Amino acid sequence: MAADLFDREALDALLARHGRDPHRLVQVLRELQAEAGWLPPAALQAVAQGLGLTLAQVQGVAGFYRFLHLRPVGSYRILFSDNVTDRMAGSEALLADLCRRLGVAPGRVSEDGLVSVDRCSCTGLGDQGPALLVNHQQVVTRLDATRVAQLADRVRQRVPPAWWPPEWSRVDDNVQRAEVLLAAPPAPGAALEAALARGAAATLAELDASRLRGRGGAGFATATKWRLAREAPGAEHVVVCNADEGEPGTFKDRVLLSCHADEVFEGMTLAAFVTRARLGFVYLRGEYRFLLEGLEAVLARRRAAGLLGRGIAGRAGFDFDIEIHLGAGAYVCGEESSLIESLEGRRGTPRIRPPFPVQQGYRGWPTVVNNVETFCACTHVALRGGAWWAAIGTPKSSGTKIHSVSGDCERPGVYEYPYGTRVERILEDCGARDTQAVQVGGPSGTCLSAFEFGRRIAFEDVPTAGAFMVFDRSRDMFEVARAFAHFFAHESCGFCTPCRVGTALVVKRLDKLAAGHGSRHDIDVLYELDKLMHTATHCGLGATACNPLRDTILKFRPAYERRLKSLHFEPAFDLDAELAVARRLTGRDDAAAHGREETA
Ligand SMILES: Cc1cc2nc3c(=O)[nH]c(=O)nc-3n(C[C@H](O)[C@H](O)[C@H](O)COP(=O)(O)O)c2cc1C
Ligand code: SF4
Repeated sequence: MAADLFDREALDALLARHGRDPHRLVQVLRELQAEAGWLPPAALQAVAQGLGLTLAQVQGVAGFYRFLHLRPVGSYRILFSDNVTDRMAGSEALLADLCRRLGVAPGRVSEDGLVSVDRCSCTGLGDQGPALLVNHQQVVTRLDATRVAQLADRVRQRVPPAWWPPEWSRVDDNVQRAEVLLAAPPAPGAALEAALARGAAATLAELDASRLRGRGGAGFATATKWRLAREAPGAEHVVVCNADEGEPGTFKDRVLLSCHADEVFEGMTLAAFVTRARLGFVYLRGEYRFLLEGLEAVLARRRAAGLLGRGIAGRAGFDFDIEIHLGAGAYVCGEESSLIESLEGRRGTPRIRPPFPVQQGYRGWPTVVNNVETFCACTHVALRGGAWWAAIGTPKSSGTKIHSVSGDCERPGVYEYPYGTRVERILEDCGARDTQAVQVGGPSGTCLSAFEFGRRIAFEDVPTAGAFMVFDRSRDMFEVARAFAHFFAHESCGFCTPCRVGTALVVKRLDKLAAGHGSRHDIDVLYELDKLMHTATHCGLGATACNPLRDTILKFRPAYERRLKSLHFEPAFDLDAELAVARRLTGRDDAAAHGREETA
């Protein structure tokens, strides 16, 4: 296999398939890596030559993405999903058990090069976890001790993952409550037909009347975004579907892509009709690689039906097609300008704005970026009209919202409600008992305690991008906040200092508290860090990284105070612990080796 990698012809064919276009670099590296599992320096050099880039450029990109490897990895690369809900379901013990059975340390490659086992951020399977990814290609859901033991046997016997029992990779849609978007889908092409009959300007007017706001988190008015892109000058216009869904605890886009892909693609085609775009991309998170073949099949069907490609629905000049671009394990690439950087074959570093993507996005062309659920909603609006959508929900938050419900409840899955639904209603429907807290909107969202369960899900009350993680009274909310802090530190792209350093400092303080060395002073410092990061970071990741911290300190303060060794200042540096290695190496255990003065 490795020999093929250096086979000039194989590499040439790969580069030719991508038109030797440097914008395709991330896709080229992903496909190249699929051959050998990692990217040796010689392969990077060959790619650089083939795409007219410098080796440093290619290395810089390859080094940015967690799913691209610059060093050899195991033939079986196993990544445990490491969201807090996976941990609550026992993922850490299962990981330890698998490592023990395979004789490998977490984060390392086994000596025979057979296997590596590590953790990754949430894989978007919180309703059927604990889950893991194998070779960035295949998922294993509903892990338990038996499945882990059988999996270890298969690895030891070198059974290819494709031959493992299909039941292990079963991913259920788990639709628990449908209102509009998750209900029976409209016929493919029906919304497009309605829009074509109305015309582009009238379609935009319907969208305006619907008061639809984006479902990806920021809640920007969709009609305004499409209008700005329509009016922006550019040789091309572009439509991008943000299917990065990296916010831990969120999996509603996975379900929409799995069983409502037609409405997503139709929504994108409507955006193309309104903005005169010819190019469309779905940025699909690498963790959802298992959805790729199904999505390609839907695209092929739509092309065959004349709903994509040249002269859509028989309209000369209406040319639009969609390409799926796979991400490579970077949460920040969900941020729209980082996503565009990644689409252009670069590191996913957020851009300085303005200009906004609607003015200058992909390759400098006006670009509409919308969330999967937003495009779905656009399809329904085009079909049934703006007034119909606006009549659902509240005056400031029209329509429905899909929630990814996980954690301490009997019926995890996706639930669709009109905006304005109270948190307690969702808790009741999902069978949550003795609930202490709900993290709405993922780590960057809001942590609600029991006295707030009467609040409503709405942009004007509790906004959400879709995650709804339930914690009962047995859970330690300090540990929940600490897990989220580790997530943000892990995912910070490192571009700006307040976030790069700030997220690391937050982790350090929380780890200090967890180790029982904290004081009130540490909590004050955490407040200061929150203030700093909220205002001084370059993108939304850093700005929201302290949200769980602020909420939990405010609402679950006893969980923090239980950990305070002293109410007064205590240095973060533990001299005795730091000296442990030196003591072990020198075989000393006298007072001086503990940093204390000898007593006579
Ligand atoms: C760190 C970060 C991660 C994000 N991740 C996502 C994501 O996974 N999916 C998404 O639709 N929007 C995400 N967003 C929001 C996007 O930047 C953008 O606002 C959204 O895709 C616009 O679509 P909408 O108008 O339909 O909401 C993220 C933002 C930030 C700051
Ligand atoms: S805030 Fe964090 S993720 Fe955003 S640009 Fe700065 S370092 Fe990168």
